[in-house]
Amino acid sequence: MIPFLDLQQLNAPHQAAIETAVQRVVRSGWYILGQELTTFEKSFADYCEASHCVGVANGLDALQLILQAYDFPKDSEVIVPANTYIASVLSISFLGLVPVFVEPDPKTMLLDPARIEEKITYKTKAVLPVHLYGRSCEMAPVQEIASRFGLKIVTDCAQSHGATYAFSKKETLGDAAAFSFYPTKNLGALGDAGAVVTSDAELAKKIRYLRNYGSNKKYFNEYQGVNSRLDEMQAAVLNAKLPFLDRENQHRRELAQYYLNSIQLSELVLPPADRLDEDVWHLFVVRHPRRAAFIDYLLQCGIQTNIHYPLPIHHQKAYQQYSHLRLPITEQIHQEVVSLPLSPVLSLEQVAYICDCINQFKG
Ligand SMILES: Cc1ncc(COP(=O)(O)O)c(C=O)c1O
Repeated sequence: MIPFLDLQQLNAPHQAAIETAVQRVVRSGWYILGQELTTFEKSFADYCEASHCVGVANGLDALQLILQAYDFPKDSEVIVPANTYIASVLSISFLGLVPVFVEPDPKTMLLDPARIEEKITYKTKAVLPVHLYGRSCEMAPVQEIASRFGLKIVTDCAQSHGATYAFSKKETLGDAAAFSFYPTKNLGALGDAGAVVTSDAELAKKIRYLRNYGSNKKYFNEYQGVNSRLDEMQAAVLNAKLPFLDRENQHRRELAQYYLNSIQLSELVLPPADRLDEDVWHLFVVRHPRRAAFIDYLLQCGIQTNIHYPLPIHHQKAYQQYSHLRLPITEQIHQEVVSLPLSPVLSLEQVAYICDCINQFKG
């Protein structure tokens, strides 16, 4: 069986470095807000071509803390793609802000800049692009609209570590970006972890307070903050893995290129190949009009797949208030998408086998 993703295998090449790092933390006697985190924050800010990185407990908190730090009035609107993981939207509604859904571009399945302007009202304060599947949204037009209307760009980079736009990592970040280091991500910890990356010094400073009960001095609190710190153990694991991220992303690109060159099945819609080298291929998402049969067939071939995601946010029970919305592009995407295996430990031979099987699908 070719698994969709094998986390043990994924971390095996890093095992010795991770064990050394974890031992260092155990022996240090310092487990929260210490040297490992300081080192990681510096390295990851440099990696992202930004001035500041603030480690937090997970990607959802990273998004939420950015929005909290901006302190928008209650009921302010935040424009968000309707095709995303629910965390992007939870970060908005949790703070009493209003998510305004926009249909994605059907080709990229990402935020469609052409649909942003029609959603802007006097209550709009921010746009939240999501670089879903490891591909950056079209940031130049988003930037232009945001500047014209005075909106903040809060970017969800949970799936896009290392992705570029116009061959710049900085160009993907907007005013502030949220990263997740959930174990399956391109840069994954051994538990939950996240970070805010920004070149706005004031914002970074405020988020540093907010993640630590609103304080930077023990028992003196400037804000009503939260407890959302990236602990030393996870920071040490990330320090061990970060130097290999580019190499692993390159392997992902080679596999994606192989899929794109080799799959020839007329009904299967492949992801766009135009920015192969900028994309970090967190997921390789194809679309098939008879998805269930396609998935069953691949399983019979010994190939596990996944669906990112099966139910749109406006159809989730948690967001019943949006069930009346008609978002046909988003709805169709959710009915058709299938994620094929793709990871730094998947071999070209395995991908070749998957392509052969796909090309023989008669369903
Ligand atoms: C697009 C997107 N945004 C946000 C998140 C939230 O990250 P975390 O699981 O670390 O809270 C995820 C993670 O699954 C994600 O895929």
